Amino acid sequence: MTNKLFAVKPIKELMEEVSDSSHGLKRSLTAFSLITLGIGAIIGAGLFVRTAAAAANNAGPSVTLGFIVAGIGCAFAGLCYAEFASMIPVAGSAYTYSYATMGELVAWIIGWDLVLEYALGAATVSIAWSEYLNKLLGYFDTSIPYQWSHSPFEVSTLGVHGIMNIPALFIIFLLSVLLIRGARESALVNSIIVIAKVSIVILFIIFGWSFINPANHTPFIPQATTFVDAQGVPHNFGGIMGILGAAGVVFFAFIGFDAVSTAAQETKNPKKALPIGILGSLAICTILYILFSYVLTGVASLNDFRTVGKEASVTFAIQTYMSGFGWLAKLVTVAILAGFSSVILVMLYGQSRVFYTMSRDGLVPKIFSDLHTKFRTPYKSNLLFFAFVGVFACFVPQDIVGDMTSIGTLFAFMLVSAGVWIMRVKSPELKRGFRTPLVPLVPILGILVCGAMIFGLGWANWTRLFIWMAIGFVVYFTYSVKHSKLRHRND
Ligand code: ALA
Repeated sequence: MTNKLFAVKPIKELMEEVSDSSHGLKRSLTAFSLITLGIGAIIGAGLFVRTAAAAANNAGPSVTLGFIVAGIGCAFAGLCYAEFASMIPVAGSAYTYSYATMGELVAWIIGWDLVLEYALGAATVSIAWSEYLNKLLGYFDTSIPYQWSHSPFEVSTLGVHGIMNIPALFIIFLLSVLLIRGARESALVNSIIVIAKVSIVILFIIFGWSFINPANHTPFIPQATTFVDAQGVPHNFGGIMGILGAAGVVFFAFIGFDAVSTAAQETKNPKKALPIGILGSLAICTILYILFSYVLTGVASLNDFRTVGKEASVTFAIQTYMSGFGWLAKLVTVAILAGFSSVILVMLYGQSRVFYTMSRDGLVPKIFSDLHTKFRTPYKSNLLFFAFVGVFACFVPQDIVGDMTSIGTLFAFMLVSAGVWIMRVKSPELKRGFRTPLVPLVPILGILVCGAMIFGLGWANWTRLFIWMAIGFVVYFTYSVKHSKLRHRND
């Protein structure tokens, strides 16, 4: 039993599964489509919504420094992801990599943890989508009432209680249907949206720069204190802890470049295309984020982010402070809605592909790998995750699902960083299309920086992560050990 917990799936076998195209997914993605897939997944609610939340609750203008910390952590982890991705170019992301290196139990932990990243990530962005949809409707003098666009745990400044977030559920449904129809169509739509998304980020930086009010950037790093938000939740505000907390929150804005690796099974020439896709999309986004957060926190004030500018903060900042740029506010709102959709799409896609692989390994039920006869997509899995994600989107506030997504992903990044190092020691002879530089320094720094961000996210989030992982252990020891194909092969 004990040694089977650490049984590894042979890499040779993984590669054979990939070439077994009669059962596999279609190969249609190139390096360029991977970069667009990556940016499609990366720029989203983390930038347009979580930046304001991190400024309000954690760091004020020094959220910009939080982006730098998060970017550094991602670069280290990204270099590790790229080595794994070039060595084991198959679907399943960090889950697959760890199955081939650290064994089944660690693979399970990561696969289960990735549900936080992908499924809850999709829920978070759908809630942000709902905020900006109301801004759009505002241009037509209408809106969805507060109670039908917020979770039951939220109360408006006028004392209205939320009931459920219907727009968030709606967008999850729409995109699940698109995914069921096939990755090729989805990737094309995604490329168009990526262009719009990058354009509005650049336009906001250029035009917003001259509206920066230096008073909003003073003090740049607020003094350390405790801030209690509208829901009564205390946060470490200001100082180093504030910056680390902000880094953990805005880390959300970087999530997604690893989703590129989940597309390996649908990629032409994955050895070369994957590292380019992962590192290319990460580099482009980091530069944009630092500039964007500097401008946003300079245009609107800390008090705005805590009150009237809390929701749909970017549109708010333009409408309120950038006179003459009403057109930009409209453009941003529309592009953000499209942009968020592309993020949700990639998240749902990544989720279904991870569970597809886990299902083929017998760790989760077969229903997650049943392919549609015409579209060859795991449609049942898409439908099940629509239901799961929909519950969170409807009934849980964004701060909670957002931070759970961050902490879950950070945890996976730490395990992946450790995995690259372990693999170099255990199997130095394996061919690697891309080699992480300075091993073990880079993996160790990846573990430390991601660990610091987890620390910054605070005990409520540590507890939630712990509970989710405990549920995962129950599932693993009651279901997966009995059905694992690897375990029962030699019985
Ligand atoms: N990075 C993605 C976003 O910010 C998840 O929405």
